[in-house]
Amino acid sequence: MSLFDRRVLLVTGKGGVGKSTVSAALALEAVRRGKRVLLAEVGGATRMPELFAVQGQGYAVSQLTPGLHTLSITSAAAIEDYIVQQVRVRAIYKLVFRNRIMGPFMDAVPGLHDLVQLGKVFDLERERRRGRPTWDLIVVDAPATGHGLTMLSAPASMMELTVAGPFHENARVVHELFVDPARTGIVLVTLPEEMPVNETVDLYQRLGAYQPQVLACVLNEIHEDPFAPLDAWETARPFLDRPALREAVGYTDRAVRRARQQDEARSRLRDGLPVSLTELPYLYRRDLTPGALSELGQRFAEAG
Ligand SMILES: Nc1ncnc2c1ncn2[C@@H]1O[C@H](COP(=O)(O)OP(=O)(O)OP(=O)(O)O)[C@@H](O)[C@H]1O
Ligand SMILES: [Mg+2]
Repeated sequence: MSLFDRRVLLVTGKGGVGKSTVSAALALEAVRRGKRVLLAEVGGATRMPELFAVQGQGYAVSQLTPGLHTLSITSAAAIEDYIVQQVRVRAIYKLVFRNRIMGPFMDAVPGLHDLVQLGKVFDLERERRRGRPTWDLIVVDAPATGHGLTMLSAPASMMELTVAGPFHENARVVHELFVDPARTGIVLVTLPEEMPVNETVDLYQRLGAYQPQVLACVLNEIHEDPFAPLDAWETARPFLDRPALREAVGYTDRAVRRARQQDEARSRLRDGLPVSLTELPYLYRRDLTPGALSELGQRFAEAG
């Protein structure tokens, strides 16, 4: 079963390592494979419309490119959605719940912000149109590491807190989707540097019962440079220390250091995580266009 046969992919990793980039690349690759894909941002993030140069619609689903849609989930919008589903009249929500009750309540119940956002993803997963799922795949650009983990465990925390009753029931069905390895996969993103790699191995450990859901680790921003033969460079280096060559020597030193660091990252991840490793190249450009993102996505095709 491939990465793209799940219903939901949660993409997480340390801040700034390329979670949003990888989420978009994975989504585009799934579209290329003929799937209808929803790219969900959480915590009110709105990177995707910007990346695809379209106008976002916030919590309302909007198209990024044919076959690919997006929305930006906030806990406030998700809770409103949930309560309106229960009471069926939005005016009542506005009258009774908004601000006066919901604000303090949401903040008082641990994990509720996270739970309602997962609840929205759960609803979207169940949505059907003409008898088939509206979305073949939902890619969630999840929060960074620690928060990603608490978000994933929010339904279980709510179940413990409530013990029984309707809240407990709701949390249970949401929990069941996100702990089912056949339906939900986790993709860990990291960079070929010591700290992010250590944090990734550590995150994998902390995932505990969710480990079987980790389908892939993405080693992002690999410099696919021509400085691999380190030995030859080290032999030549002492002969090159002349003023005119200094800049080139410095550049090559950095490239060699980076190549070695990348090798270390690779072997540490291979030893630390029993999951497939996909490498994405560093793209030398300022803005990652949809074309560049789908170029990255195709690396997943090569990886299988
Ligand atoms: N393979 C790559 N090649 C070149 N630039 C990249 C690559 N991957 C990511 N970037 C750039 O690195 C920056 C961080 O990437 P991105 O926003 O995807 O990270 P993130 O993990 O989602 O960050 P945050 O934790 O802030 O949400 C962006 O400017 C992005 O364009
Ligand atoms: Mg991001």
